[in-house]
Amino acid sequence: MAQPQQRPAQGVVRFYNFLPEGRSFLDEVLTGLARPHKALPPKYFYDARGCDLFEQICESPEYYPTRTELAIMSEHAAAMASFLGPDCQLIEFGSGSSRKTRLLLEQLQPPLYVPIDIAGEALHAAAAGLAQLFPWLNINGVCADYTKPLTLPVFVGVPIRKKAVYFPGSTIGNFTPQEAIEFLQLARRMVGAGGALLIGVDLKKDKSLLDAAYDDAAGVTAAFNLNLLARINRELGGDFQLRRFRHHAFYDENKGWIEMHLESLASQFVHVGGERFHFRQGETILTEISCKYSVDEFRAVAQRGGFAPGETWTDAANLFSVHGMIAT
Ligand code: AVJ
Repeated sequence: MAQPQQRPAQGVVRFYNFLPEGRSFLDEVLTGLARPHKALPPKYFYDARGCDLFEQICESPEYYPTRTELAIMSEHAAAMASFLGPDCQLIEFGSGSSRKTRLLLEQLQPPLYVPIDIAGEALHAAAAGLAQLFPWLNINGVCADYTKPLTLPVFVGVPIRKKAVYFPGSTIGNFTPQEAIEFLQLARRMVGAGGALLIGVDLKKDKSLLDAAYDDAAGVTAAFNLNLLARINRELGGDFQLRRFRHHAFYDENKGWIEMHLESLASQFVHVGGERFHFRQGETILTEISCKYSVDEFRAVAQRGGFAPGETWTDAANLFSVHGMIAT
């Protein structure tokens, strides 16, 4: 019998699945489409195709946040690591492509790394990549919806001085400021007193730059948005006709956030899960908000979420910020 192929030495990699059984996607779609103002949660963008399109967005010339945050991390990862301190259990919300995480892990060298992501495949891929790169790293991946209250397992036998949540990418912007406060309170409970938060936050800037970042000329963001309907068709047997919807994204200066919609180009009916939904011509589904902050605005939100401002790192053009904060 053939011997199983020998793999290069790796650290400990474990996975926990904390996703609820069954129908959350269907339930949330049916609820969202039944609302007077139709809306769908942005966390469902990230199936395999959606993750791929998001990677392409990050490389588009108009979408400045990813490359700006990466540059901030490259320059300040050492300072961030000393802010967090030694022997810290690093918990990451959303594992993504892990490029920023790599920069942080190199400097921090934590005894335990806990990436949490709703997308199981993306989580496995990211963990495998990091395990290859950092054979010393102890990885405990958790497949879970981190927007809901979540109690992590206690990882025994690992010397931990404090817990730190790393939340890069300005994903906090998917919440309204009030929701962000409630979400930070969950993170605060997870790290405990004296715990830390390292969080990437996109900054307020000129409307024209923001509008372009969420409606790139090559149409990648449009494809990313429309893929949500394609995913509903694929996974839930929906019958959305993608050509009868268009991507519409804009920065609302009063609200301080981007709104991303899918607009119905005609009066039409769509079926999902045995239910029928009517769309008026011009009616939209709100698929995402992306809230923008000034440094001071975000510090105020974090404070109400239970974190005291520590250090803030930004780029020279003040496009993006990364905040180190301590649980109060
Ligand atoms: C991953 C939520 C940070 O809001 O900028 C990018 C998602 N949507 N282009 C963002 C997104 C459209 C992104 N986040």
